[in-house]
Amino acid sequence: MAVSSKKFQAPKGMRDFYPQDMAVRRYIENIWRTVSINHGFDEVDGPTFEHLDLYTHKSGPGIVSEIFQVFSGKDEAERAAVQRTAQAPFALRPEFTPTLARMVAAQADSLPKPIKWFAIPTMFRAERPQRGRLREHVQWNVDFIGVPSEGMFRAQADVAMLALMVAAFERFGLSARDVRVKLGDREAVRRRLKLEGRDQAALDDDLTLLDERPKLRPDEYRSRTRQLGWKDALVRLYDPETRLVVRLDDMSSLPDRERQDSEDQRKQAGSLLYEIDQAEIAEWCEFDSLIVRGLAYYTGLVFEAHEATGAHRAIAGGGRYDNLIESFGGPSLPACGFGMGDVVLGNILHDKGLLPEDVYMAPLRPHAFVVAADDQAAAQLPKIVADLRKQGFHVRHSYKTTRNVGKLLGEAGKSRACFAIILGKELAENKAVVKNLESGEQGDPIPLMALVEFLRAQSRRV
Ligand code: HAM
Repeated sequence: MAVSSKKFQAPKGMRDFYPQDMAVRRYIENIWRTVSINHGFDEVDGPTFEHLDLYTHKSGPGIVSEIFQVFSGKDEAERAAVQRTAQAPFALRPEFTPTLARMVAAQADSLPKPIKWFAIPTMFRAERPQRGRLREHVQWNVDFIGVPSEGMFRAQADVAMLALMVAAFERFGLSARDVRVKLGDREAVRRRLKLEGRDQAALDDDLTLLDERPKLRPDEYRSRTRQLGWKDALVRLYDPETRLVVRLDDMSSLPDRERQDSEDQRKQAGSLLYEIDQAEIAEWCEFDSLIVRGLAYYTGLVFEAHEATGAHRAIAGGGRYDNLIESFGGPSLPACGFGMGDVVLGNILHDKGLLPEDVYMAPLRPHAFVVAADDQAAAQLPKIVADLRKQGFHVRHSYKTTRNVGKLLGEAGKSRACFAIILGKELAENKAVVKNLESGEQGDPIPLMALVEFLRAQSRRV
């Protein structure tokens, strides 16, 4: 009977992960996880979809315009409401920070402080897919909550997050020549806008424009400033063409451009520079007047990591959000954190040759590949393989019916196994031949009983 068939593709901007792709993804996630745990962070996660209001509450218009809405096709009342209002009750998570704020606020009294959490969830954004921007990505989030908001300890907490990000870059083989960590101060920009006579109510729109500046043509920038009613002096001050970038390893104080600084603010900037120097990350960092970030909840230092030539979208972004937990009904808990996506990072590692197959495939390498040289051996193979697997070894074998040992060893080599275990005539004495697939060495047959100890000793050596 003819089978009716139809071909399907993944939706645009979504990814299929074939085994190699999955190995790369796990390699990236493993480094994120290891660095987080080394720095004392605990892993958390939340729901894939949340109430839509969670994102309209504090994240700002940029992210809200990229939301995939969710509703139940079963629930008639929901379907009717969606038709009426064009708004679904739920949203696929476009970011993790609101979920984290909700979770912290719900149990703030009982959670030990400070709260140091990381998460590696998938995110969904209804963006126009392009290189570096997809509709689903994996995002490493690291957040330090209940951190000091005053004095020198404030700078220490901020720099702890920057240093953690740099530690991850180093683990991926990236250097300060490859990646720039760009710092800005959203609060200083707010203060400056107010000094220039901008109304409190207009500040969020002003900051949205400032965040979008790098993507705008000069005429677009000017026309947007006119729509917002900016005076000429302000238009000139924030003109993207007068961008100011200052490397932190070349300077002794943060630039005063945005600031009419009070003594306190100067001290704060001084502490930040001091802590960056102490953490030995100054060579990675620079002040960049274009960095204000698009998410409305940031309240102070903001930062983004970019590939040094500027050829890619941001690798990571974050900052201080001192009021968010309180705005979700929790206590006042100042916080600082960042998110790093796998897409841009993966592209950069790939372009720079930092994703060699032997590195990301290493954890998936079989300890042994078992081959059978004759039918009698083939009959015994399943039990020998099962026994080794029970002992915790990653063991593979051929599904081919050939008894040609040369061909089978070729297959063993392709599997990247460390050893081939050849079952042949030696089985009559309960022995097998073990071949080191890297060196090609092959010793005297060893007893089957000794295989476990042999493999264990070899994996200790690796
Ligand atoms: P974000 O800047 O919107 O920040 O995202 C962080 C990173 O996620 C970006 O730098 C980028 O690498 C990646 N990313 C974002 N959107 C996409 C996309 N459509 N395709 C591929 N990668 C993408 C946040 O989401 C904040 N909630 C981070 C944070 C955590 N702030 C404090 N804690």
